[in-house]
Amino acid sequence: MGLRADAPLLDGWLRDMETDRSPFQIPGHKGRTDLTGAVVDGDIPVLPGNHPRRISPSLILEAERIAADLWGADLCRFGVNGSSGSNHAAVMAVAGPGDKVIVSRTLHKSVLVGLVYAGVTPVWVRPEINPATGLPEYLPSHKLAEVLAANPDAKAVLIGEPSYVGTMSNIPRLAAVTHEYGIPLVVDAAWAAHYGFHPELPQHPLAEGADIVVTSAHKTLPSYSQASFVLVKGDYVDLPRFNKMFDSTQTTSMSGRILASIDAARALLARHGEELIGPVIEATERGRAALRAANIGVIDGEYIDPLKMVILLAETGADGNVIEAELLAANIDVEMANRDMIIPMITFADTPDRIEDLISRIIASVNANRGEPRPVSVAASFSIEPEVVVTPREAFFSSYEVVDSADAVGRVSAEMICPYPPGVPVLSPGERITQAALDALFTARDVGTRIAFVADPTLKTLKVLPQK
Ligand SMILES: Cc1ncc(COP(=O)(O)O)c(C=O)c1O
Repeated sequence: MGLRADAPLLDGWLRDMETDRSPFQIPGHKGRTDLTGAVVDGDIPVLPGNHPRRISPSLILEAERIAADLWGADLCRFGVNGSSGSNHAAVMAVAGPGDKVIVSRTLHKSVLVGLVYAGVTPVWVRPEINPATGLPEYLPSHKLAEVLAANPDAKAVLIGEPSYVGTMSNIPRLAAVTHEYGIPLVVDAAWAAHYGFHPELPQHPLAEGADIVVTSAHKTLPSYSQASFVLVKGDYVDLPRFNKMFDSTQTTSMSGRILASIDAARALLARHGEELIGPVIEATERGRAALRAANIGVIDGEYIDPLKMVILLAETGADGNVIEAELLAANIDVEMANRDMIIPMITFADTPDRIEDLISRIIASVNANRGEPRPVSVAASFSIEPEVVVTPREAFFSSYEVVDSADAVGRVSAEMICPYPPGVPVLSPGERITQAALDALFTARDVGTRIAFVADPTLKTLKVLPQK
């Protein structure tokens, strides 16, 4: 699409690829594909010093400036450690040891790790759950206002928008409530890099009043794995502090290819976003309508990402794990599947034909596997009301005991335990282990969800803090 004229890092990467260089620098493969094969092809490093026409710190600054201007930010940083690294930076930028922050409980585990790094104490708020789907809907601003009133010393509010299932809160209202306390609203918008580039999409969270917006360019944009960028406004955030924290979360040997792919996606969105996104929104809407017509549930409505396709299976009696296996047999991978839900990830790199084909395969597979309807259960990750006993950091670095999970109720978790996806911790370090949390985890395990980041994924044993 001839983007290089508008994209300095893409141009730098292409120029390196077009030049027959003789590198005496890292990476050690020296651009040779005859040693380990195509796996290293195009792996161009960032030069350590400033070079105006090569991928180097000065060219990265230029590309970040263009991105900041596109989104109306005071600062943009490109990262190679996914939204995970960007979330770590965001937490450390707004709070430090001993501080309190208000955090949405549907957070991704990377925000929780950020809480550990920063040494802060979370005050949890939980978005409303839709009883018909068992999935999170939105965080009401009155709920946030109550928590802020009870914790006026909080240093920031951290939320995740849209949720893993594409549902959205009213960010302008949450931003207004947060700003009344003179503190920043940080939005983990890992799934929302495309927002704002088509009239049918929600506005970008930054345009709706957020102060720090973390995004994964590799999720909804055509960028390389690990590509992330953060947009920051300086009204409630100390920008030099943000830069310091961001730099501390990134490798000093960044991949030029990943960075160039962020720059390229930004240029593509700016030039062709609306025309690329429009047909995919229409195809996704047709897909949802076809699923509904086949009596298969989907998440729908005004406050969702129109590109998010969340297929609900409880009423069909079909098992999502079986549907996933049938799709995999046809070499079709989906983003997420468990017994009750399938999420095929749709981006503007898909074509209407591909989406139509996928939907007809899913309908056929569900119809072939229908059974007794199951009651809707609230997913473990979205139903927890945690009791924080010690800070995440204290528990994370603490000594621990391994106990049978039957004996763990009432003890304090030393581990982070997440059904993955969505990667939202049901128990996190420092929280009281309740029967409800354990039952929710057992249910997730039994319906085929991977239980991640835990020493014993069978959940027979758990790591707990020693009794005082
Ligand atoms: C809400 C949310 N935030 C952050 C992340 C981490 O993103 P990344 O994989 O880019 O590190 C994820 C990953 O799925 C996520 O779902």
